[in-house]
Amino acid sequence: MDLTEAIKGRRSIRRYKSDSVPESTLQKVMEAVIWSPSWANTQCWEVVVLKDPNVKSELATTLSKGNPALSSMTEAPLVIVLCGKKGVSGFKKGEATTAKGDWLMFDTGLAMQTFCLTAHTLGLGTVIVGNFDHQRVAEILGVPQNVEVVAITPLGYPATEGIAPKRKEFSEFVFNEKYPVKQ
Ligand SMILES: Cc1cc2nc3c(=O)[nH]c(=O)nc-3n(C[C@H](O)[C@H](O)[C@H](O)COP(=O)(O)O)c2cc1C
Repeated sequence: MDLTEAIKGRRSIRRYKSDSVPESTLQKVMEAVIWSPSWANTQCWEVVVLKDPNVKSELATTLSKGNPALSSMTEAPLVIVLCGKKGVSGFKKGEATTAKGDWLMFDTGLAMQTFCLTAHTLGLGTVIVGNFDHQRVAEILGVPQNVEVVAITPLGYPATEGIAPKRKEFSEFVFNEKYPVKQ
């Protein structure tokens, strides 16, 4: 599968088979994450891999009942919680380099994209989940104060194909030379 095919073909998968994911396959995905770009190669991402059905069920309680990814938290054989170390990305000698402060959301986002695309090329499904109670997840997993919980994804073999939601046209997001006067 070439890169464009992987980018266009990856979909958010919210239903999973119970088949387990071989350890070697999970390692291939993590190996790719290592090669994601990051601020000054700071690699602030850290991941917690959940297999225990009891922990996955507890994690599921941090999503609202209306979250369409809710059932995937317990259906998928693995759940990955992506975290970022604070005060590393975008910092030099403890000082923020730019007015944006911490770039951990950006770098962990890149890592998540690598994760999801690589998983897709290996026949695995993912769905990035950001809408949950981050504080409660930190408590459940014992995440230290200097680390931020960012997003979750289930990882497993898709039970359904995802439906591609409509994308914007070029003209809606590509501007030449300057932003148009009217947005
Ligand atoms: C930062 C972020 C947070 C998201 N949070 C959720 C979520 O809480 N629940 C969910 O079902 N999908 C969530 N999604 C998945 C998006 O809905 C999905 O990526 C989008 O609709 C495009 O569909 P596609 O991934 O199949 O291309 C999230 C995606 C991103 C990037």
